[in-house]
Amino acid sequence: MKIIDVGCSYGVNAALLRTDLDLDDLYAAYLEPSGSLSRRQEIEHRAFFRNQGLRDDIQFVGVDPSFRAVRYALDLGLLEAGVTADLETCELTVKERSALADADILISTGCVGYATEATFARVYEASATSRPWVVAFAMHPFSYDDIAAALKAFSLETEPLKRFRQRQRRFSTSTERQAILQAMAKLGMDDRLERTSGYIYASCYISAPPGEAL
Ligand SMILES: C[S@@+](CC[C@H](N)C(=O)[O-])C[C@H]1O[C@@H](n2cnc3c(N)ncnc32)[C@H](O)[C@@H]1O
Repeated sequence: MKIIDVGCSYGVNAALLRTDLDLDDLYAAYLEPSGSLSRRQEIEHRAFFRNQGLRDDIQFVGVDPSFRAVRYALDLGLLEAGVTADLETCELTVKERSALADADILISTGCVGYATEATFARVYEASATSRPWVVAFAMHPFSYDDIAAALKAFSLETEPLKRFRQRQRRFSTSTERQAILQAMAKLGMDDRLERTSGYIYASCYISAPPGEAL
């Protein structure tokens, strides 16, 4: 299976899907002093993931303008290929298009807002012949409407998975909380979780050819 991860950063999604590790395991491994991975020893990180037995039936292609993060994920073997052009403003090269071709699914976590419909359209177009689904989490209050509209041009229908909200992070200040709640109210978003939990949540959206999504 070939997965494109838009906003892949250091390859966290690849690490989670290609090993049996969960997020708590990754935190424990990375956080010094009790963790097993030192901050400087990339060679140690590579060995750590090799020892986890990275699944080779799942290939990840990362898209993220953060060159150092993508380099790290490539060096560790988490990503098969990386696209570090900022697709908000740049067209894909022939080589990048071929790295993105034939994907089974496009995913994205924590990146909507940085990446807009411009990036999603360029990435999808490069892989459109295999008709991949797109599954993305968008942190509140970012709207997914423009991305859904761009994907509609490729005949994909987008649905929010309403029961599937993912806790993202704590509000950093009360001013941020107020601003986010105001923005959510303006967009008519359901803000019950943000009002009651002290955390910002993300909504999950799934885009698929008509009749294919559950
Ligand atoms: C909050 S991090 C999320 C990282 C990872 N997906 C996760 O869930 O932990 C946001 C990522 O979006 C990336 N990003 C920023 N602008 C972008 C763009 N135009 N296209 C793709 N990724 C972008 C950043 O470099 C960063 O790695």
